[in-house]
This record gives sequence, structure tokens and C-alpha cells, in this order.
Amino acid sequence: MTALYTGRTVAVIGSGAMGAGIAQVAAVAGYTVRLFDTRPEAVDKAISGIASALDKLVAKERISAADCAAAVTRLHAAPALDDVADAGMVVEAIVENLEAKRGLFAQLEAIVADDCILATNTSSISVTAIAAGLRLPGRVVGMHFFNPVPLMALCEVVSGLATDGGVAQTVYDTAAAWGKIPVHAKSTPGFIVNRVARPFYAEGWRLLNEQAADAATIDAVMREAGGFRMGPFELMDLIGHDVNFSVTQSVFNAYFGDPRFTPSVLQQEMVNAGFLGRKAGRGFYHYGDAAATLQAQAEAPQPKPEYVSYTVEQGAALHAVGGAVVDALAARLRAAGIEIAQRRTPEAIRQAGPHDDAPAFHCNGAAVYLTDGRSATQRARDNHHPDTVLVDLALDYGGANRIAVACADQCTPAAYRAVVGLLQAAGFTVTRLDDVPGMAVMRTVAMLANEAADAVNQGVCSAAAADIAMQKGVNYPRGPLAWADAVGIEHIVRVLTNLASSYGEDRYRVSPLLRRKQASGGRFHD
Ligand code: NAI
Repeated sequence: MTALYTGRTVAVIGSGAMGAGIAQVAAVAGYTVRLFDTRPEAVDKAISGIASALDKLVAKERISAADCAAAVTRLHAAPALDDVADAGMVVEAIVENLEAKRGLFAQLEAIVADDCILATNTSSISVTAIAAGLRLPGRVVGMHFFNPVPLMALCEVVSGLATDGGVAQTVYDTAAAWGKIPVHAKSTPGFIVNRVARPFYAEGWRLLNEQAADAATIDAVMREAGGFRMGPFELMDLIGHDVNFSVTQSVFNAYFGDPRFTPSVLQQEMVNAGFLGRKAGRGFYHYGDAAATLQAQAEAPQPKPEYVSYTVEQGAALHAVGGAVVDALAARLRAAGIEIAQRRTPEAIRQAGPHDDAPAFHCNGAAVYLTDGRSATQRARDNHHPDTVLVDLALDYGGANRIAVACADQCTPAAYRAVVGLLQAAGFTVTRLDDVPGMAVMRTVAMLANEAADAVNQGVCSAAAADIAMQKGVNYPRGPLAWADAVGIEHIVRVLTNLASSYGEDRYRVSPLLRRKQASGGRFHD
């Protein structure tokens, strides 16, 4: 049964970027909207901005002229806060300050009816804290939209400790009726998206700090191999380094300094320098007149190697860690007409068991492995095979146009060049990362999945909600938990365990839920 808010009037308090977007989607969905702002000019600007945004949608034939006109007539300026008295639901989008929000809701309690829902669009303040001290804290709930509201589908419906379950469900159903994809979340720092997304930026910073590659190269790998719409550095340039740094600091502080969320000194330096990104004309990239394309590193063409062998159909051998991923890479090589000899029988692999560290491929003497969180150099030592080259994860080996590799310090140049030639023969642009543990896509995906698993383990959200949130809130190409399923939980745990031992940092500790899935052989999604 749907619990949709069926009252006709919604009040939006705060008519800045977010308030205007929220008012737009509510008005288009057929609700009367009263907009209030302590600066009346902000309300006028919001209403005229919404009208022109809707006009553009009419021009693109995404909404009819009649629906546009009707939506605009449903928007009303509220000259005073008292003028929102008839609202059955209030969405607050004022300044991000606890005292200001508490003060506003206390005022509203004296104005609106007792059954009026009080929703906050806060992105970082505890919903529990906002509700505390109110006469009726059960009706306070988070309704966290993403910027720009009309375009971003996600709405996190955030319950504080006192939030009434029925109120959260009403807001959930109402968000759906406004054309959004809602997810339930418990009020915890960063909710779902701003928490689970932290490693996307943080692992980028770590890679840069350890000189794995320059920013443009890491961006290209994350985009063209990882399938992300933007790499971490171009995305942070767009968000603004000041904003991104402040969110990271706030989540880090809110989790009492948990090393998983440690901010980057490099980003602090970007903020110190005023290299804030697009809005400042300069971040990692230059914008405006000084704009220049930065080239991502790519290896020079190498000849196709004479001999390639594939260890076995590893995915079919079930036990083999990372097997399905390696099979996908083998399929790409075969599709490019590369002849691959088979070195071991499936029976031999089965007998070797899950901890066998057989290479995915042999190629003119080089052993090629999917990264497992150890550096190539360490893996060469562990396997007594100096000529070791690692490949990074790709979202889709069949379609990716770039792949990252890392080479052991002990590896001979000829063996390395053979692997580069092999991947180039399959049509990949090959990018060499310096030999950092876990490479770029793999360690980022493993850490995203780890964070999402912990959020699920701590009851912040369901596995389905975590994946939807990351796809709809930040446009990830695949939910982190579905991605962990696809790579294999066993392999993800191995990557994290090896990262933890490489760095000796608690940052890479494995979520208990990942360990539990690994132990049971379970998955996040059927
Ligand atoms: P904004 O600065 O564009 O707009 C805030 C508006 O609130 C201003 O027009 C201001 O005059 C008004 N205001 C301030 N105090 C007020 C009060 N006591 N009563 C009435 N109006 C008041 O800010 P923006 O970006 O629209 O953000 C608003 C809220 O949405 C914040 O809580 C923010 O954390 C949250 N949010 C922002 C996102 C973003 O990307 N900008 C994303 C998701 C949430």
C-alpha cells in the first residue's frame, strides 16, 4: 500500500539551488508549492529560473506547453514563514547549519498542523540532531536530493532515531511520485552516497601521492577501463576541491577519525593554492583561455608476442579466484584473433584449490596476473617468477579501450614489452601505472564495495539501496556490491587483505559482511 503524501501543498524553505530544484519537481508533479526564503529576491529568482528551465524542456518536447504553464501557476512566493501554514509537507533547503535548521523547525512547529511532515535536504547534518528538542520529532525526516535536482534521480530518505516509520515511507512514496528513485537510509555520517563514494576520491589521491601516474592518466584509466563517467580528478575539479575537501573532512570527523576516511594532504594543498577546479579556472586541469588537453600516458606500440598460453578456463573451474574476470579478458584476446594455448587442465586447477596463484596468462615467458592487491614486485617474489606483469580490473574487458598494467621491478624489459604487445594486439590502449598495490580500478572498486558492505552491515541501508544510490546519485556504471559479486567476493577480500598488509593501515580492513559472504560463498544479489 502506498503512503504517498496526498495533501496538495508543499512548502520549500530556502530557495537557493536546491530549493528551486525541489520546488520544480514538486510543481511539475502537480503539487502547489509555497517558496519561502529570508531573502525574498531568492524566491523571485527561483520562480523565474524554474519558469525558464521548464520553457527549455518545452522546447526539447520533454514536457508540454500546457503542463509547463500549469506547473508555473502552482508556484507561489510566501512573503512570510506564516504563509506556509496550509502545507502538509515542508522541505527545508536552507543554509547547512544545525542551529539554523533547528531554529527553523521550532518556528514551523508553531505554524503548521501537527500532522505536517518536516523534511530536511541536509547532506551532512544528523537528522536525529535536527529533530532533537522538537515537540514532535517523529515527523522530521531527511529528504536528500542531489544537484541538479531535476536531473538527478536519487533521493535518500533518511530516518533519524526518532523518525516515525510511516513518515519515512510517506516521503519515500512521495519522492517516487515526483519522478525520483528513493532509497531508505539510517541517519549516519554521509548517509549512503557521501559515505560510500569517499574511496573513489581517496584512492585517486593515494595513487597520485604514491606517483602511480599523473592525474590525467588516472582519470583516463578510471573512465576508459573502469567505465566511470568521469575520473576522480576531473570530477573533483567539477565539484570544487574546497567542497569535496570539506565533505571528506566532515565525514572523517563524524567517524571520529576512522582512517578509512582520512583526507588527503594533496587536496589540502590544492585548496591552499586556490586551485579549486572549474569555478577557479584551474584545478588539476586548466579551464577557459588557458585550457589545454592533458594526455594520458600510453605505451608505445609493441609487436604481438609469439607465444601466449592461458592457464585454464578459470571461471569454469569455480574455485579459481578472479576466474570470471580473467575469462572475460581471455575472450577479448580470442575475439581479436590471438591464438592462446592452454597450459593446464581444469582438473589440475580444481585440485590446486582456491589459493592457487597460477598466472592468468603466460606470454613469451612473462607471467600475467589479475591484480590481487599485492604489487607486481611482491608477487614476483612470492611466486619466484621475476617476469611478472599485472593487469588492472576493467568494467567490461570486451568493450574497454584502455587497460592498465604494472610491472615488477625484477621483470625484464623484453618480457614486459611482450605483455604490452599482447594487450595492444587485442585493441587496448595500454597504460603503465607505477607498481602500487591494487592498481587503480581494482583497489577503488574493492574499497567502494567494502564501504557499501559496511553500510549494509551497520543497518544504514540494504544492499539493493546501496547499489541504486551509487548508480543514481553519482552515476556509477555498476553498483559496488553487484561489482563485488561479478569480480567474486573471494577476490575482493583478497585484494583488501593484501592492501592492508602492504600498507599496514587499518584503512583497508575488511568489512565483516564481506568476510561473512566469503565464508558462506554468498553474494549480495542473486
Ligand atoms: P544555497 O546557498 O544556494 O541556498 C540556500 C538558501 O537558503 C539561500 O537562498 C538563503 O537565503 C536561504 N536561507 C538561509 N537561511 C535561511 C533561513 N533561516 N530561512 C529561510 N531561508 C534561508 O544552498 P543550496 O546549495 O541550495 O543548499 C541548501 C541545502 O541543501 C543545504 O542544507 C545543503 O547542504 C543541501 N544540499 C546541497 C547540495 C548541493 O549540491 N548544493 C546537495 C544536497 C543537499
